[in-house]
Amino acid sequence: MLASLVAAPADRRSDPPGPAAPSSPGAPASGGRRALPAVNRWLDMPRFELGDRFTAEQREFLETFGFIRFRRFADPALTRSLAEEVEAIDRQLVAEGRTIVRGVPLILGRHPDGVRFVQRIAFASTFGPRLHRFLQDPRFRAILDVAGPDYRIGELERDGLVVNHFRNEPASTYNRLGWHTDSLRDLFYLERPRRYLNVGFYLDDSPIVKGGVRLLPCSHEQGLWPMLTRKAHFVDHQPDPGEYALEAEAGDLTIHDGRLWHRVARATAEGEASQRRVMYLPLMNGPEKPKHEGSPTPLYFRFRKLAGY
Ligand SMILES: [Fe+2]
Repeated sequence: MLASLVAAPADRRSDPPGPAAPSSPGAPASGGRRALPAVNRWLDMPRFELGDRFTAEQREFLETFGFIRFRRFADPALTRSLAEEVEAIDRQLVAEGRTIVRGVPLILGRHPDGVRFVQRIAFASTFGPRLHRFLQDPRFRAILDVAGPDYRIGELERDGLVVNHFRNEPASTYNRLGWHTDSLRDLFYLERPRRYLNVGFYLDDSPIVKGGVRLLPCSHEQGLWPMLTRKAHFVDHQPDPGEYALEAEAGDLTIHDGRLWHRVARATAEGEASQRRVMYLPLMNGPEKPKHEGSPTPLYFRFRKLAGY
């Protein structure tokens, strides 16, 4: 079955191979599709769209490779309105001098002109009605059903809805992320690694020149030991010969299995042209553990600070 996904029949509705990504200031001449890892040439992702439930093919793709991308989950108008609200929340948090939300530290950066901005907003949907409404979209039910029988969107749990804002700028502290598995977090919470689905919604286009998610297809099928030791968590940034570059457009939704090894590569574009904002949904199961302003900072964040961001 895997072979049928890897081979690319002529009639498959996969994404077209071109055109080259638009060149941006600071992008090397070799940018664009030619810079894609070798794995992107043989792993052909169909142009999936998400309906009320996963199709058998979508489910099989996710289960086989450990990730999937749905095109145009939101139309451009909705995507823009969500991005506007995120910008307003960002300005509000900076104006209020917030450094922590419900026990989770914000990651703050600075534009070249000195203006501060938030590079990682936690619990974002508690600050904006549009984001909160977006999370009520019935199609998320389809994802929760695939995650497991008792999953929910935990707006007040863990880090809530997270908005990551990556930029390649001199004063940006958050422009890449080393190899890791999301499941490591479960161990920090003293829980057994669960089948966690990491769901990202793209507010900006994310072509190869913006860096972005690199993942090792099928690495979610490993045991606990390789999950912990295959690479040095967060400190290893080396490209892997077996990595796949997950490109996306604004409005797309991606899912990857939390046990999958992945990293976020630094953009080759710079400044505004490198802006890449992705929202991550908090899928939770088990007993509800909502956080409040007095919640302690998890050990996990102290560990990440050691890794340099
Ligand atoms: Fe991750």
